[in-house]
Amino acid sequence: MTILVTGGAGYIGTHTVVELLQGGHEVVVLDSLVNGSREALHRVEGITGKAICFIEGDVRDRALLDELFVEHSIEAVIHFAGLKAVGESIEKPLAYYDVNVHGSLVLCQAMAAAGVHRMVFSSSATVYGEDAPVPYMETMLRGRTSNPYGSSKAMVEQMLSDLCCADKRWMVTLLRYFNPIGAHISGEIGEDPQGIPNNLMPFIAQVAVGRRRELAIFGDDYPTHDGTCVRDYLHVMDLAAGHVAALSSLQHAGVRIYNLGTGHGISVLEMVNTFERVTGQTVPFRIAPRRDGDLAAFWADAGKAERELGWRAERGLEAMLHDTWRWQEQNPRGYVPG
Ligand code: NAD
Ligand code: UD1
Repeated sequence: MTILVTGGAGYIGTHTVVELLQGGHEVVVLDSLVNGSREALHRVEGITGKAICFIEGDVRDRALLDELFVEHSIEAVIHFAGLKAVGESIEKPLAYYDVNVHGSLVLCQAMAAAGVHRMVFSSSATVYGEDAPVPYMETMLRGRTSNPYGSSKAMVEQMLSDLCCADKRWMVTLLRYFNPIGAHISGEIGEDPQGIPNNLMPFIAQVAVGRRRELAIFGDDYPTHDGTCVRDYLHVMDLAAGHVAALSSLQHAGVRIYNLGTGHGISVLEMVNTFERVTGQTVPFRIAPRRDGDLAAFWADAGKAERELGWRAERGLEAMLHDTWRWQEQNPRGYVPG
């Protein structure tokens, strides 16, 4: 199949493109490069020995999309393109609704006009909201989201569900990711956040490589076994494989929803301790106040993806941390040379 991958030059996109190319698919990547990298795509070509058709452009650009669908025989779309920083979304809500919601709307309109009706969409565990009991299950209703980023994901989920109700040609899979970490085993591609990382794993890796002095652990008084927050971390290559599985299952009309997680929770302190043990690096840390909006603990019920897609997370925490460290050690400044 020829797949359009929007946001394919970003963290999850590049790893998924590796899986797609190795699975025999052809790939067209559309990315504005606001948070992605051309170098990352060159490295994907190096890993796979295959060429990627790359188009630099914005998913909100309808004329560009129309042209793209005429020039390439796209059979399905994996839609990663979007903005993802929760704190920034609170400061710039309109930017988030514009890129994430309006961008998805324009993409669907262009797909409909081109007769392409298969989509896999990057959603998030954040749509379960603030009050859902754990583990999160796909049968639960979406909850109250606490920031514009989360709301934008919930809105796009709703829009795609409405679209599938109205037009039986559409086949859509919503993938609700938990916490992707890790990197391709080659160490050639990985997560390369711009500026100060918001997320735990890249922050730990940057402390270990000497780019940051210490990690601030946001709160040690949560009602968890060691007082720090618990999350469901999964390897980005497992997540990538989940997209290929979801793509193959796009055979029936309507919306399907899957959690992609391991089903196990790990605390922040466990992450730091395991990283130190696995890599032999020291990660200085201090306990800091809680971060606004953080939930104490959540993880996935990952059973539905296994039953229906035949997918489960295969790689354990040690592999996630080894692979993160290999990437960070080989590329201390990410994709920036030197
Ligand atoms: P990322 O920022 O690395 O990748 C997103 C890509 O989209 C970037 O390459 C960026 O340049 C591109 N992009 C942004 N706006 C665009 C636009 N208007 N037009 C075209 N391209 C545009 O992020 P990621 O971690 O790879 O996340 C991919 C998707 O998965 C996002 O939709 C994100 O919200 C979602 N998601 C990520 C996580 C996570 O923890 N990383 C968790 C849940 C959901
Ligand atoms: C973040 C997003 C969430 C998104 C999820 C998926 C926020 C508030 N939420 O969630 O919307 O769906 O990623 O990847 O950004 N931590 C520290 N110190 C740090 C960084 C993080 O202690 O420097 C802690 C956090 O308090 C949290 C845990 O580490 O308890 C994981 O944090 P993070 O990687 O940001 O992920 P989430 O908070 O789960």
